[in-house]
Amino acid sequence: MVSTKVSSDYMPAMSETLTLLGIETSCDETAAAVLRRQADGTIEILAETVHSQIEEHAPYGGVVPEIAARAHAEIADTIVAKTLQDSGLSLAQLDGIAATSGPGLIGGVMVGMMTGKALAMAANKPFIPINHLEGHALSPRLAETCAFPYLLLLVSGGHCQFLEVTGLGEYRRLGSTIDDAAGEAFDKLAKTLGIGFPGGPAVEALAKQGDATRFVLPRPLMNRPGLDMSFAGLKTAAARVADTETMDEQGRADLCASFQIAVTECLAGKTERALQDFKLRHQGDLRLVVAGGVAANQTIRAALEQVAAAAGARLIAPPLRHCTDNAAMIALAGAERLAAGCYDPDGLAFAARPRWPLDRQSALADPAYGGGKKGAKA
Ligand code: KG4
Ligand code: ZN
Repeated sequence: MVSTKVSSDYMPAMSETLTLLGIETSCDETAAAVLRRQADGTIEILAETVHSQIEEHAPYGGVVPEIAARAHAEIADTIVAKTLQDSGLSLAQLDGIAATSGPGLIGGVMVGMMTGKALAMAANKPFIPINHLEGHALSPRLAETCAFPYLLLLVSGGHCQFLEVTGLGEYRRLGSTIDDAAGEAFDKLAKTLGIGFPGGPAVEALAKQGDATRFVLPRPLMNRPGLDMSFAGLKTAAARVADTETMDEQGRADLCASFQIAVTECLAGKTERALQDFKLRHQGDLRLVVAGGVAANQTIRAALEQVAAAAGARLIAPPLRHCTDNAAMIALAGAERLAAGCYDPDGLAFAARPRWPLDRQSALADPAYGGGKKGAKA
């Protein structure tokens, strides 16, 4: 396990009330939030704004990195100014500024990070670079006291992984997709069928009228040991059906339902295994957290509820606005790090990272993720 916890050259802990500005720009949402953390860990979100770029990307059926970066650059300062104004606070009243500094689409990441750095420099406040995945990992704590440890299934358009979260900066990756993220597969199917972007909600809506048994689709890696997942083969198999079968309205609905149940069974099956594995190491209350946009899917959520109940675990799903990309989770990660003294005082020198695994050791140890000139993947 890799720990990014306090080392001797880190700043001392701040135990008083902390108020932070968080900025998130790693994909297609430009988001800002002002969050207050009391010394006892109580969280209050004073203001938050999420501006989605869905309309800009919809014609292309997916997020276009260059369009995303430009759209962030055009609006980031307005979103930050509006959020600060909504909070009723000035920059001078903040204790620090946190911004997603990776992993993600690098153009967008740089826009948010540079906005945060500029404000931190101007106001002479600490700048805390945040790993976007850490934001997701801590997101359940925005809504409730979710004590460590817990098992996290992070399932979005960019990520699909199991993480054992045992403390701030203590993340062990138990398994991950070896190719596409589940949300990406939903988006690709929707694009193939021409039913809209983002694909997840469109596929889910059509699936309601469909027969999930009509098309037999693969459940990749289900019969293999371990917690890695794969969705590329399933995505391709569904696209082949869409290309070869005559797709009337009922056909599209049946394909969406068949695809959705395949994804559900893959996620639920692996989660069942992950919980058994987690139980071997942790006694006491068992918590399963699901975060990321795909967690909005009712069929998937119902299946995870069942898996959790059968294992004697509680399923915690943050409210949807905090499951998907948001800046409150980034401000929270910043506040937790500031409170624990677990941050690099030289944050202004941090370089944005397109790849930044939370658990670097696991990522590097596994050839499926470790390679590439840019370093280990998520
Ligand atoms: O977390 P998120 O907003 O952004 C990142 O990818 O980080 O997740 C967006 C993903 C998209 O792929 C979208 O299609 C998927 O979440 N999604 C869904 C649903 N709502 C959103 N997938 C399945 N069912 C849904 N209801
Ligand atoms: Zn995300």
